[in-house]
Amino acid sequence: MDNRNGLNGIWVEEYVEALQEHYPELLWTKAATNILDASPFSYGTESRYQRPTEGGAGGVTGWISNRFSPMNAMTISRTYKGLLCHKSPIDLLLYSACLWELKPKTVIELGAFQGGSGLWFADQMEAMDLDGQVHSYELLFKAISPRAQHPKLHFHPCDLKNLESFDIDQLKELPHPWFIIDDAHVNLLNTLSFFREFMVEGDYFVKEDTCSLGSLSENAEYLTLAESLGFFTDRIYTDAFGYNVTTAKNSWFTLLSDCNVHKHIHRSLRDITWEGA
Ligand SMILES: C[S@@+](CC[C@H](N)C(=O)[O-])C[C@H]1O[C@@H](n2cnc3c(N)ncnc32)[C@H](O)[C@@H]1O
Repeated sequence: MDNRNGLNGIWVEEYVEALQEHYPELLWTKAATNILDASPFSYGTESRYQRPTEGGAGGVTGWISNRFSPMNAMTISRTYKGLLCHKSPIDLLLYSACLWELKPKTVIELGAFQGGSGLWFADQMEAMDLDGQVHSYELLFKAISPRAQHPKLHFHPCDLKNLESFDIDQLKELPHPWFIIDDAHVNLLNTLSFFREFMVEGDYFVKEDTCSLGSLSENAEYLTLAESLGFFTDRIYTDAFGYNVTTAKNSWFTLLSDCNVHKHIHRSLRDITWEGA
């Protein structure tokens, strides 16, 4: 049992220690400080517990948190099986639904972090009895936790700034359909174009955090590129909880032939004539 910080089975400190050991030059960068801030139940010097009346009866709720944007506030402080897992609860539900619909043979995650999200994907695949595998790629490969282990989960070192470093032969061998999640936030345009080359109809590419791309024009450039590469946005997922209530705003991309696009035009339940009605 590990109860540093008074938390049992939560391994966020282990990630910081791995950075310290293997990538000490990164430890005090903004990203690393964000990790520390993001540790679950991180309340700074405040106590984790408070008396019920201490918070007051009214006040600001988590949904309109003043800490970060609401979506970030939901994303932050997340772990899965004690490992950092920076996914919003809404995206996790959407991923679960899409895994079931798509039944991917390959999940490709760009940006493994501590391995918690890869482990979540692998567990989901197993729970749904899907026979696909999860391949997760990461620059800081040595900071991935040895606890992120699953027979379906495979980590690979990579540098997305240098796409030539990808093992293309290995990539081509991965069976379709593919479900790709880009959560690394580097070299975005080239990464999308690179993977598009190997994708086939029906595959998905989700670009997380388009809600927080540097600027609106950067976002527009990204979406324009996606369109020119033949992607469609799947609104079943972007808009499941309301217009673009996902960190991947407009960026749940899929490849479809034109005839399939029309086949999938949404029919309202009211338009359906029920037999015997
Ligand atoms: C937002 S985190 C990923 C979060 C993780 N998918 C999750 O949900 O918990 C982004 C990750 O991308 C990695 N990364 C940054 N630059 C990279 C690069 N050039 N190539 C590959 N990975 C990179 C970072 O080290 C970090 O682990």
